[in-house]
Formats: sequence, structure tokens, C-alpha cells
Amino acid sequence: MTANSEDRTTGNPTTETVALFAEYNGSVITERCQKLADSCRLDIVSSCQPDQLLLTWIDDALTLCLGDQFKLQTRVDFASGKSLHRLQYGGGLGQPLARAAKITGSSKPLICDATGGLGRDAFVFASLGCEVVVLEQSPIVFALLADGLQRAQHDPDISHLAKLLSIYHLDGKSLPATWPCHRFPDTVYLDPMYPHERKKTAAKKEMQLLQRLQLDEGNEAELLSSAINTARHRVAVKRPLKALPLPGKPPAGSIKSTNTRYDIYAGSAPVESFVDTH
Ligand SMILES: C[S@@+](CC[C@H](N)C(=O)[O-])C[C@H]1O[C@@H](n2cnc3c(N)ncnc32)[C@H](O)[C@@H]1O
Repeated sequence: MTANSEDRTTGNPTTETVALFAEYNGSVITERCQKLADSCRLDIVSSCQPDQLLLTWIDDALTLCLGDQFKLQTRVDFASGKSLHRLQYGGGLGQPLARAAKITGSSKPLICDATGGLGRDAFVFASLGCEVVVLEQSPIVFALLADGLQRAQHDPDISHLAKLLSIYHLDGKSLPATWPCHRFPDTVYLDPMYPHERKKTAAKKEMQLLQRLQLDEGNEAELLSSAINTARHRVAVKRPLKALPLPGKPPAGSIKSTNTRYDIYAGSAPVESFVDTH
């Protein structure tokens, strides 16, 4: 039995059903399993169809995967794979992402990554010395992110970077009202799903599962406007090189790389703004 997961930030059901897989005999369900099932409103199953989207722990890492063979595994792992590669060979302060967020040797902006996803870009910002407040609207992706961050906090090689990240299950469109910190961010970064990523074809293997969650619901103009009203200095939006800018205010400029463009907008939160956090 599976249930529709529901996004508590929007109240909307995700279109794909996801179940939490646990090998259990009907009586022993671990506390962390029950907690996750409750927070994401998932049914716990011990068997499934080959095409069923599952969350489960593999090698103690929360993993999104497909069906009874655990195919197409996706998890947040800052200590290996793409994140480690970007840490070692990403190009440091010269890389377009750093320039887009205006990170320099002497300037380490407070960044809000308002479309957190699997946290890869946020981790790059942290590796360049910035504190990053990461927002993610999907309860499933947020759970993956929280699990990856917790493992990173216990890894002596990267725990100093993990400390720079804080994550919130929030919809970026609710900014600036729900901004959770004392000071507004210098830079807000947006990386909404690329238009072609929303289609079920031509996706990178690891994106296929995330696509099935149908994470972006449009309203990009609203997201952009919320970002502009929250950033003290700038908003940077990642786009495919040849895609149109997000709808709404036109960008003031852009930074280009081989396949990617970062559209830049001026932020309009007052520079001296502080938030009454009660
Ligand atoms: C392309 S992924 C971001 C990838 C991320 N930059 C990374 O490096 O892993 C887009 C993510 O933004 C999230 N998202 C989209 N709209 C959002 C919103 N309004 N508020 C918070 N998260 C949002 C989606 O749920 C999805 O996980």
C-alpha cells in the first residue's frame, strides 16, 4: 500500500507516489523510519512493484530509488562523486558560479540557495567560504538533503564545510516573510529545474527520479520576485545557455559558461535590514 505524499508547504500532493521501504516483519519499524514516514506522510512497505518510487536506507544513506531492484539510486553525498569532483577541480573563485554569487577572496556573502535540490551548488558555495541558507520545498528532497548533511557533519574531511550549511523545508516563494535568519542574505541563488528537465525524456540518469517527483510547479515569476525582495545585493539565476530568462523583471546582466548562463538581478532588500526573529 502506498499513499500520496503531500507537500506541507503548499498543501499540494506530489504527482508521483513514493513509499518508504523497510525490511520489517510487521512489528519492528525503527524510530527513524517512522519519523520519516510521518514527516513526509509516506506509507511504509516491505515489498513493491518494479516501477515504484522508493525512499530507503542503503549503506545507511537515505536513497531515492526505483522498485524492488533499487535502480537509479539518488542520494545526497557531499564526500564523493560529483560534489567531491567539484571540490577538487571546480575552479575555485574563478568558476562562473562563484562570480555569479560575487564571492571573492575578501568577500564571502551570506547566500540563500532558495532551490536547494540535492545541495550540490550550496556545497560549492560553502567550499568557497560562504555561509549558505538552503531552502527546499519538496519534503522528499528535503529529507534526502537533511540525511546527506547529517552524514557530512560526521565526516572529518568535510564537517567544517557542512557547518556552513543550514537547511529549511520552505517554499522560496514565501520569502521574504518566512526568512529564517537574523540578517537578510547578500545573494539569493535560484536554480529551478531546467525546462527540458521537466520532460520525461532526455534526462541524465540521476535526474530521472527527481523528474518523477514533478518538483517545480511553475510560478517562476513569483519566485524571482520573492528572491529580489529578499536579497540585499543580488540574485543569480542559473539557466541553460540559450534559454529565455525567467519571466518577470529582465536581468541586469549575465555570466556565461559553456552550457550555462547565470542571470543577475539587483536585490532590493534594504542593505541594513535585520529581521525580527522574535
Ligand atoms: C534543479 S534542482 C536544484 C539543484 C541544486 N541547485 C543542486 O545543486 O543540487 C531544483 C530544486 O528546486 C526546488 N524548488 C523549486 N521551486 C522551489 C521553491 N519555490 N522553493 C523551494 N524549492 C524549490 C525543487 O524542489 C528542486 O529540488
